[in-house]
Amino acid sequence: MLGTARHVVFVPGHLVLCAGANTGIGFEAARELASKGARVVMAGRSPDKIKAAVEKVNAAAAGGGSAEELIVDLSDLKSVARAGDLAAKAFPTIDILVNNAGIMYTVGRDRAVTKEGFEEQLLTNVVGPALLTSKLLACVERADAGRIINVASSAHQFASPRFFTDLQSKDWKGGMAAYGNTKVSRPRAALSPPQHAGGVPPRPHPRHAPSPSPRRRPTSPRRSPTCSRRAP
Ligand SMILES: NC(=O)c1ccc[n+]([C@@H]2O[C@H](COP(=O)([O-])OP(=O)(O)OC[C@H]3O[C@@H](n4cnc5c(N)ncnc54)[C@H](OP(=O)(O)O)[C@@H]3O)[C@@H](O)[C@H]2O)c1
Repeated sequence: MLGTARHVVFVPGHLVLCAGANTGIGFEAARELASKGARVVMAGRSPDKIKAAVEKVNAAAAGGGSAEELIVDLSDLKSVARAGDLAAKAFPTIDILVNNAGIMYTVGRDRAVTKEGFEEQLLTNVVGPALLTSKLLACVERADAGRIINVASSAHQFASPRFFTDLQSKDWKGGMAAYGNTKVSRPRAALSPPQHAGGVPPRPHPRHAPSPSPRRRPTSPRRSPTCSRRAP
């Protein structure tokens, strides 16, 4: 999903679950979709932030559109499993699942691991969303034309050339390389089972068709101002 959600085709009344919806791209997508009649489940890790965002989206909703909250911390697999089970019961049919939440380390940041031992960006951007997706896959498959949107980034070009053998970025080449690794992994995960199994064949956005391997790294990576402030 690029820019706004104006070009996303959906039927009013469809249920959209968007992760990382309290701010940035996810919030704008939620607001736009609810204003066009979607029922949007806004997922985020901070109850206060999500509550405030849900209120704003509900205020802008129209045509039967609405917003509600789901609390999930994608950097904590127990939280993801809990939220996934809860959402699967509460929302048996999901028309669009948007794996949008993500963090990006700024250049120069040291490697950090979560309590479960994952490099933090890998868990938040790839492993957590993959677990959430597997918990909700049956709900998406129940929809007439269910879709899973994985928000990627052209930053995949900064990935370490050796990331296939070093997914955890133990050989730390800087935050941007590890972020790039996650943005290569995300479309690749979407092309793999279980998302591909029995579902609609994956269709990468034309501007973000996943490259099978990282391209040559430029010498001075561009920074994304809106993402970098999120690095914890
Ligand atoms: N902005 C760009 O230029 C750009 C370019 C290409 C791709 N992207 C991708 O687009 C997506 C959204 O980016 P954005 O610019 O909108 O970023 P953003 O404004 O920083 O928003 C990121 C969202 O992800 C949530 N999030 C972060 N860690 C989380 C966690 N552990 N559990 C649950 N939610 C978590 C954040 O919640 P909190 O507010 O609680 O932190 C926030 O809602 C990301 O996947 C990013 O990689 C962005």
